[in-house]
Amino acid sequence: MAEVVVVTGASGFVAGELVKQLLAKGYTVRGTVRSLGSVYKVAHLIALGQALPGTLELHEADLLQEGSFDSVVQGARYVFHTASPFVIQVEDTQRDLIDPAVKGTSNVLAAAAKAKASVKRVVLTSSVAAVHGEYAAPPVSGSLYSEADWNETSTAENGQAYHLSKALAEREAWELAEASGLDMVAILPNFVLGPVLSSRADGLSAGFVKGLVEGKAAEGTPIICDVRDVAAAHVAAAELPAASGRYIVSQRAPITPSLVAEVLRARFPEFAIPDVPPGEWDVRERIDNSRAERELGLRLTPPCATLVDAAATLIAVGAAQPLPSGCAADAGAEAVV
Ligand SMILES: NC(=O)c1ccc[n+]([C@@H]2O[C@H](COP(=O)([O-])OP(=O)(O)OC[C@H]3O[C@@H](n4cnc5c(N)ncnc54)[C@H](OP(=O)(O)O)[C@@H]3O)[C@@H](O)[C@H]2O)c1
Repeated sequence: MAEVVVVTGASGFVAGELVKQLLAKGYTVRGTVRSLGSVYKVAHLIALGQALPGTLELHEADLLQEGSFDSVVQGARYVFHTASPFVIQVEDTQRDLIDPAVKGTSNVLAAAAKAKASVKRVVLTSSVAAVHGEYAAPPVSGSLYSEADWNETSTAENGQAYHLSKALAEREAWELAEASGLDMVAILPNFVLGPVLSSRADGLSAGFVKGLVEGKAAEGTPIICDVRDVAAAHVAAAELPAASGRYIVSQRAPITPSLVAEVLRARFPEFAIPDVPPGEWDVRERIDNSRAERELGLRLTPPCATLVDAAATLIAVGAAQPLPSGCAADAGAEAVV
């Protein structure tokens, strides 16, 4: 009989690709979602379940509801805990970010602890946000940030509540795993881009490439990783008996202006991809990503493929409406006048 695995937050961007890879391997995937009534959030998962060899079950569970994950985790071999709010602007930091991240993690870990007879490993989706807070403190190695670093600088007050939520949630997870004797591995992605499976583009990851394709200049200097690599790292972290501790999944340096503008323009000459001002981009190498390559066998997708596949799929599913080449993003208002 096929092994049962649980993926929390199955409706999310990262989880969608993870569900896809698990179904492709023949697992019975129990995906949790906040509401089965949100058809647009799960339609792509149902399609994957119909197309791939594994079996998909969808269950309702809420991070903030104690005991919500207990029944779904019973009998599962691996629990992938991806659900957590990935938002920057919130009304109430505690209510909207910290509580779902931290209490949600303790609910999921408590459910796994109650099902210890079957659960061989929990794989937690943490983040590079739990490693550093906008480079506020130097890395312990003195050169590159690695799994040895912990973000101790982010606060709700300095505008890094999301970073704080991830650092607190990961610490909580390690404490609970140790206290309850659960085997846990954490995957720490940087900013995740790559192909989308859903026409839902309300997440920050899809929104970044959608903005570029729709002619809006990018802000910031993200260090990216590919969603396919992030999902593959989760699967390897569960299946490889020797996997342990934290694994960063990330390119080593930020993407460059030439990568963003030139690669997308070359691939989509028919669309108006904006210039990215080179002066605003700091492309120093910052991350030591070697552990996941060494121990999980990860081979990172080149960033140009990540960007192109993100743009191509966003356009294909109708989530991004590119401007024809020659048009500027703000040309619409004048054209109407
Ligand atoms: N994308 C990145 O760049 C990135 C980088 C590093 C780490 N991560 C981590 O990867 C994970 C997935 O992120 P993502 O990019 O896939 O974001 P996403 O598309 O916004 O997915 C977040 C998921 O969490 C669920 N969720 C949020 N609040 C919840 C609650 N109160 N109860 C139950 N479920 C809740 C969402 O459910 P709904 O569908 O109902 O909203 C959704 O399924 C998160 O842990 C995030 O911190 C992401």
